[in-house]
Amino acid sequence: MLDDTFLTPAQIVAELDKYIIGQHEAKRHVAIALRNRWRRLHAPADMQKEIVPNNILMIGATGVGKTEIARRLAILADAPFVKVEASKFTEVGYVGRDVESMVRDLAEQAVSRLRQRRQEEVKAQAAQAVEDIILDALIPPMKAPAKDGGSSPSLGFGIGISGERIAGDAVPGSDQELNERTRERFRQKIRNGELEDRRIEINVSQGAPSVGIMGAPGMMDEATMSGLQDMLGSMMPKKSRKRKVTVAEARKVLLDEEAAKLVDMDEIKEEAIRQTENAGIIFIDEIDKVATASSGKSGGGPDVSRQGVQRDLLPIVEGSAVNTKYGIVNTDHILFIAAGAFHVSKPSDLIPELQGRFPIRVELQSLTKDDFYRILKDPKNALTKQYQALLASEDVQLTFEDEALLKLADIAAEVNSEVENIGARRLHTVMSRLLNDLLFDVPDKIAAGAQLTITPQLVEERLRDMVKNRDMSQYIL
Ligand SMILES: Nc1ncnc2c1ncn2[C@@H]1O[C@H](COP(=O)(O)OP(=O)(O)OP(=O)(O)O)[C@@H](O)[C@H]1O
Ligand SMILES: [Mg+2]
Repeated sequence: MLDDTFLTPAQIVAELDKYIIGQHEAKRHVAIALRNRWRRLHAPADMQKEIVPNNILMIGATGVGKTEIARRLAILADAPFVKVEASKFTEVGYVGRDVESMVRDLAEQAVSRLRQRRQEEVKAQAAQAVEDIILDALIPPMKAPAKDGGSSPSLGFGIGISGERIAGDAVPGSDQELNERTRERFRQKIRNGELEDRRIEINVSQGAPSVGIMGAPGMMDEATMSGLQDMLGSMMPKKSRKRKVTVAEARKVLLDEEAAKLVDMDEIKEEAIRQTENAGIIFIDEIDKVATASSGKSGGGPDVSRQGVQRDLLPIVEGSAVNTKYGIVNTDHILFIAAGAFHVSKPSDLIPELQGRFPIRVELQSLTKDDFYRILKDPKNALTKQYQALLASEDVQLTFEDEALLKLADIAAEVNSEVENIGARRLHTVMSRLLNDLLFDVPDKIAAGAQLTITPQLVEERLRDMVKNRDMSQYIL
């Protein structure tokens, strides 16, 4: 996201097309919003501050792809992304500033993404360090001068191994050499995996002791609290403990530790804040649930609390400084995408200030029978492909006749209109109903090597009665 080349709007739409069928309007809007962020970062510095993100409000029934679009967008953008349900903030026990937790979560996500990547980058180096530690535990190195006391301080020293006695009392002077040779031999053995079950003693750090802080609720916010805990934790001496483990286990335990030592956390934090502020995307789902349909009348408790959530959201969406464990995050340029079905309430039921903060409205289309057919077939992660992959692992080949897919799409649309419209989610239930018996019978009754074809007749057989019987489809499909 923050580098020099970035997908063009058309390319973004093309990428989204690989996973999401239809919804062209929505795709276009999110593509523009994403590209605009890149454009902003390449604008003159004084202008950068002025350009505000085009926050988007997606309106559409359940299961038509709202969440999916936002999720895929974040992957494309390679950006920190969190999804929250607005309604959760109306739950009992939440207080105003908890709404800020979405920003803290975003920063947390940015940090852990970066940390993971950096650790991946230093993996080879960490593996080398681990090998050295294991080797030192097996055959402690000799110090050149007659100085006493084993290897580097963090390693502990003089760790004996069961069996094999090395470096005997050879000719003085060649001790050192012999030790080196032996170590090289053992290094080779470690690499060849010959010593995996050998037990060695290693020092493992036990992590910072957790420090409990008591405080009257409300005196401190979450960020201050956890920041304080972290700080106190890091002030306590890091404890390490000796453990006897096999070489294989030691490698597992030590690898993370060594990788962590090799990454610079301060640098990561700084970069994470930068990414959070400039590339972060917060997806606020179920925003319609905090809209109050009947404004004007002095509503009861729930209305008050819903409006309260909207008021709490306002400064965050508008741009404010949020205190996180990693530093202050400015929310001015975070992209917010809100979504809701708006069956009961309307976007105009949101408080005006908040409406104004989501200038781009997109309506997602209800999915048709035809869309369902394509959703079954086309996306990279299409359901049919998922089931094919599952069965391929048992060496069973599954094919769907086109007519069968058309029929499935038809049935899904029918159940949606008869029972309840849950959009493309219906395809999951229909599909699982259709294939359950097969999935159970492989490999016991249907052996590896089998080729299964789903015909329209089979679909008819397995599903038609159920669709006709409203009661049954209500519970099962
Ligand atoms: N247009 C579409 N193309 C492909 N798959 C889709 C489409 N719409 C929905 N799906 C699939 O249906 C499932 C549900 O979609 P999604 O989570 O995006 O629904 P939603 O619109 O966010 O609904 P809700 O309002 O209930 O949160 C996902 O597994 C997604 O893959
Ligand atoms: Mg959703």
